[in-house]
Amino acid sequence: MIKVQDVINTNYRVPDLDRMEKFLTDFGMVRARRDENKLYMRGASSLPYITSVEKGEPAFISCSMGVNSMAELEEAAKLPGSSAIEDMDSPGGGKRVRVKGPDGHRVDLVFGQTPAAPLTDVRGPLQVNFAQQKQRVFALQRPANEPARVFRIGHCVFKVSNADEAVKWFRDTLGMLVTDRIHVPDNSNVTLGTFLRCNKGKNPADHHSILCLQSTPDDIKVHHSSYEVQDPDAVHIGHYWLKQGGYQAEWGVGRHLLGSQVFDYWRDPWGHMFEHYADGDLLDDTATPGDYPATQENLAQWGPEVTPTFFS
Ligand SMILES: [Fe+2]
Repeated sequence: MIKVQDVINTNYRVPDLDRMEKFLTDFGMVRARRDENKLYMRGASSLPYITSVEKGEPAFISCSMGVNSMAELEEAAKLPGSSAIEDMDSPGGGKRVRVKGPDGHRVDLVFGQTPAAPLTDVRGPLQVNFAQQKQRVFALQRPANEPARVFRIGHCVFKVSNADEAVKWFRDTLGMLVTDRIHVPDNSNVTLGTFLRCNKGKNPADHHSILCLQSTPDDIKVHHSSYEVQDPDAVHIGHYWLKQGGYQAEWGVGRHLLGSQVFDYWRDPWGHMFEHYADGDLLDDTATPGDYPATQENLAQWGPEVTPTFFS
């Protein structure tokens, strides 16, 4: 049985690698490798890269998810539409199988990547003085005004033509667990989206690694990918850094309800949506699924109203 353990990278295509590298650098990633036609960007964690970008027409190509064994790759290679097991020539190497997911979304399963040394030039967690709990005395709070340093990738959101079928595929094929479902406010039978997390047994997993959003057949795409930063200060600092850089803000800063992340959404120069988040919920395999109407208050606990273009 395949049980994916995490989203480990996303793969995009854009016509101008210089412009994309500038955006991703301002977004808080660091170059891992680059040649004329391909760019690999990493975060501060041990993942050798978290986003790759190749040169061409703008598109989201795939996301990759890690598995724990070669046996799972062998099983994945037998799925309809899958590739054979392939050697990866990306940073960290490893082996992958390209799997055909719902509506043709490509999910690569990866095993055997060599971890990179985590980056050390990153700010650690802030010591925060709360109203009811003081823990910092004779020490000044001076978080650097810099791009929000991205540590790792957190999740990927797919627009699909049938959310219920897509969710079944992620559960049955990749061993994922349903965390929460959102439905049409006046009809709980109609799914608008379902959050899925990785099954790591008793080890904590992100509230969601995948979200399937109900869409129409003419709008099948990746809605956004999301990257973890140190803390809410980093989300806010990153917001003003990107604003000063003249990039297109989409929605934020706010705090989601489902997953609880402090979030901030931005567009790359071609309109792909990238999210910063911090302080998300972690769950093990015992959490029972929630079911919520899709309302503003169930999208965010606080923050600006969702933008009219957020779901497009
Ligand atoms: Fe998100």
